[in-house]
Amino acid sequence: MKKIKIAILISGRGSNMRSIIDAKNSGYLPVEIVLVLSNNKDALGLEYAKANDIETFVVDHRDFKSKLNPREEFDKEIDKILVEKNVELICLAGFMRLLSFWFVKKWENKIINIHPSFLPDFKGADAVGDAVKAKAKSTGCTVHFVDEEMDSGPIILQERVDILDNDTKETLAKRILEIEHKIYVEAIKKLCLKTN
Ligand code: GRF
Repeated sequence: MKKIKIAILISGRGSNMRSIIDAKNSGYLPVEIVLVLSNNKDALGLEYAKANDIETFVVDHRDFKSKLNPREEFDKEIDKILVEKNVELICLAGFMRLLSFWFVKKWENKIINIHPSFLPDFKGADAVGDAVKAKAKSTGCTVHFVDEEMDSGPIILQERVDILDNDTKETLAKRILEIEHKIYVEAIKKLCLKTN
């Protein structure tokens, strides 16, 4: 089976990145992880990527503040790296930057993201907190293609997680994260099978 060249973009802990690397190492995912890129040099996930001999890049968004269109300039810098490395699929895994319209259009159907809610419910940065506050019965997580709107775009896979009476944002986030790790790998596998 042809191995798809993927890039993983992170900003912090990188636990979803970790599960993708582990699934690749075990032979479950037919991918080549050509790079891990972070906008934050202190992202914890970078160490795990390096320990697995994956090339890492840091592009600090704060270096683009003086530019006319900082978001797009930052994206152009990332784009250069992705093109250079022949990336075929970009996996956002806790990447805390909104991508420009230019970038999303250029990589249409080639960027996927994981979000901790059962989309279209609870879009936004505090999806788990919002679900608890809303006293919803359930929430979940979703892997979707990225389009020009936030937490939007065609859904690849999603799974529900019940919210328990005594759940706090932290206990719920922990249970959702376990499912995230599973469905992100499954979603990538699904795309690999489709490509082959
Ligand atoms: C996850 O909850 C993911 O759904 C959201 O950001 C978090 C990233 O966690 N987009 P990690 O860095 O993968 O551990």
